[in-house]
Amino acid sequence: MNVAIIGASGYTGLELIKLLINHPTFKIKYIANSTGEINVQDLHPCLKDLINIEVSKANAKDVSSHAQLAFLALPHKTSMLFTKDLLRLGVKVVDLSADYRLDLNTYEQFYCKHEDKNNIDKAIYGLPEYFKEDIKNTNLIANPGCYPSASLLALLPFIDYINTNIPIFIDAKSGVSGAGKNLSNITHYGHINENCFSYNPFQHRHMPEIQEKIKVIKNTDVLINFVPHLLPITRGMLVSIYATLKNDKVDIDFNKVLEKTYENNEFIRIRKNPVDIKSTSGTNYCDIFVAQNNNALFISSSIDNLLRGASSQALVNANLMCGFEENVGIPKIAYVP
Ligand SMILES: NC(=O)c1ccc[n+]([C@@H]2O[C@H](COP(=O)([O-])OP(=O)(O)OC[C@H]3O[C@@H](n4cnc5c(N)ncnc54)[C@H](OP(=O)(O)O)[C@@H]3O)[C@@H](O)[C@H]2O)c1
Repeated sequence: MNVAIIGASGYTGLELIKLLINHPTFKIKYIANSTGEINVQDLHPCLKDLINIEVSKANAKDVSSHAQLAFLALPHKTSMLFTKDLLRLGVKVVDLSADYRLDLNTYEQFYCKHEDKNNIDKAIYGLPEYFKEDIKNTNLIANPGCYPSASLLALLPFIDYINTNIPIFIDAKSGVSGAGKNLSNITHYGHINENCFSYNPFQHRHMPEIQEKIKVIKNTDVLINFVPHLLPITRGMLVSIYATLKNDKVDIDFNKVLEKTYENNEFIRIRKNPVDIKSTSGTNYCDIFVAQNNNALFISSSIDNLLRGASSQALVNANLMCGFEENVGIPKIAYVP
């Protein structure tokens, strides 16, 4: 099946190219950014001798004449404009941006005016562990955000045991690639090197995404206090969640809760020791660890923000949408050491 990548000059776009080069069934037939007129090997010198294709200036009609499925590795707002046209032209879409992840009101409150209201309700939230059957039957995937992927996979199994009248704290840390390829003051080498700091505490746009999906999946209202941090590393994400249990005499083995929740999910690994970033870097795994102290619950997860938090999860979703096994072409071996 022929596929397109729009946003191929960005970080998640490059990850998609790298994954799709090795995919047995998907063939890259069209890649684009905002300008075109360059060969992909000049755009990404690491791809020299591995793929030879001209980069186009993105155009929905051209996508539809080359491909049946498109990955949109674009900023929010830009993505919805392409999605609207691509769906009309019969192209399946996996959108890595936030444009179809939230209900309309929440989206417009935290992002901007929506330009494709008709398709919002048709989008399926692409968290395969929770929406697999829906993903198989849709033409539009809203690929989850990186922080929400790691946070939801860790937190959802425990919602029934948590006292949701007390806010849940999520302390999350990401490598700098989470901010995309464009430089800012906080991602400048001189600032991020040998440094670590929070940004947008209690204000980050991924907070409503986590809250909304818990409501959808568990039918429970929770108050999430979400504080993201930047780490002086290129890729990887570590999430630490602090919650209060309903009862401090809970006689429950929380590892068993994790095992039961994820028993048929090959991309979740339940860890007996606290998780780390390196063990998931380069893979689609989400590693999860849980510990209890009286009524305090600590859950920690790690993912690769560019892969499970974006491009490899997008490919899992595309596999499912197109009737393939979810693990086709999905990386499992971490960049260790
Ligand atoms: N980075 C992560 O870890 C991560 C994780 C989860 C989700 N996401 C989401 O995934 C999306 C892509 O993220 P990223 O980090 O890969 O961003 P990025 O590195 O900034 O790349 C953005 C890409 O979009 C292209 N683009 C922008 N405007 C365009 C237009 N009008 N027409 C065609 N192409 C256009 C850029 O092309 P030019 O080079 O021509 O500007 C570039 O290829 C974002 O919505 C982001 O929020 C990112």
